[in-house]
Amino acid sequence: MSKMNHANRIPRAKGIDMAAFYTPKECKRKAQHIVFSAENERIVEEFITILDMKEKFREHDVSIPNKVVMFGPPGTGKTLTASYLAQRLELPLVMVRLDALIHSHLGETGSNVRKLFEYARLNPCVLFLDEFDAIGRTRESNDEVKEMARVVNTLLQCMDEFEGDSILVAATNLETQLDHAIWRRFDTKMTYTMPDEGSRRLYISKLVGSFEQESRLEDYICERLAGCSYADVEQIVLKAKRKAIIGSSALHKQLISDAYEEYRPRVMQG
Ligand SMILES: Nc1ncnc2c1ncn2[C@@H]1O[C@H](COP(=O)(O)OP(=O)(O)OP(=O)(O)O)[C@@H](O)[C@H]1O
Ligand SMILES: [Mg+2]
Repeated sequence: MSKMNHANRIPRAKGIDMAAFYTPKECKRKAQHIVFSAENERIVEEFITILDMKEKFREHDVSIPNKVVMFGPPGTGKTLTASYLAQRLELPLVMVRLDALIHSHLGETGSNVRKLFEYARLNPCVLFLDEFDAIGRTRESNDEVKEMARVVNTLLQCMDEFEGDSILVAATNLETQLDHAIWRRFDTKMTYTMPDEGSRRLYISKLVGSFEQESRLEDYICERLAGCSYADVEQIVLKAKRKAIIGSSALHKQLISDAYEEYRPRVMQG
C-alpha cells in the first residue's frame, strides 16, 4: 500500500473508541512551529532515515527501531513530537491517554491495550500512548496492585510482538516511575528539557512571525520569559498578540509584561 493511502483514510476500529485519530495533514498544522534540541533533532532524523531504508536494514538483518519513549517536564514538546513524527512518516496518529484508559476501568485495561496493539498491527499508524507512566503506578488495594501487574505483563507482551509498519510512541513526565522491563524495550529514547536561550529565541521568532512589533522586542521577550516552558512562552505571546489586536497597536514590551503577569507561569529557578 502506498503511504498516501494510510494518510487519507483512517480506519476506525470498534472497541478502541478511547483513541483520538488525526490525519498527517492535521498533524502537520499542529507541529509546524516545533523546536527540537540539537540532540532530539538528530535522533528524530536518524529514526526517519532508518524507516526510509527498511529494505537495506532487512538485507543486513539489522532490526528497525519502532518504539520511542520521550520524557521530560510539561510543555516541552513530547505530545507535539508525536504529531511531528506522524506528519513526517505520513501515517495517521492514534492518540490514547493511558491515565484515562486505566482510570475508567482498570479491569478492562489489559484487553484495551491488546485491542490498541491489534489495531496498530493491522493499520499502519503512529500509536501514541500519552501519560505513559500511569501504567506502572502503584494502586491502593491489593487487588488493584495485582491487576496492574497483569496490565504491565500484557503491555510487555504486546511490545515484544510489535512489528510491521506502525510505530509506538510513549510519553511520560517521570522517567523513574516507569517499570524497568518496559523501559528497556524502547529502542529510541528522547529527553525533553525547558528551552535554553537559543531555542527560546527561535521559538519566539516563530510565534511572533510577521506581527508588527517594537524594535528589538524579541530580545526583550527572550529575556523576560527565561525559565518558561515552550507552552508558557506560547500562551504569553498569544495573550500579548490579542492585547495588541484589541488595542490596534504593534506588539510592545508593556503588552508582553502584562501578559506575563496575567498568565503567571510557574518558572523554575536556576
Ligand atoms: N518543543 C516545542 N516546540 C514548539 N512548541 C512547543 C514545544 N513544546 C511545547 N510547545 C507548545 O506547547 C504546547 C504543549 O506542548 P506539548 O503538549 O507537546 O507538551 P508536553 O511535553 O507533551 O507536555 P505534558 O507533559 O504536559 O504532556 C504545544 O501545543 C506547543 O504549542
Ligand atoms: Mg503531553
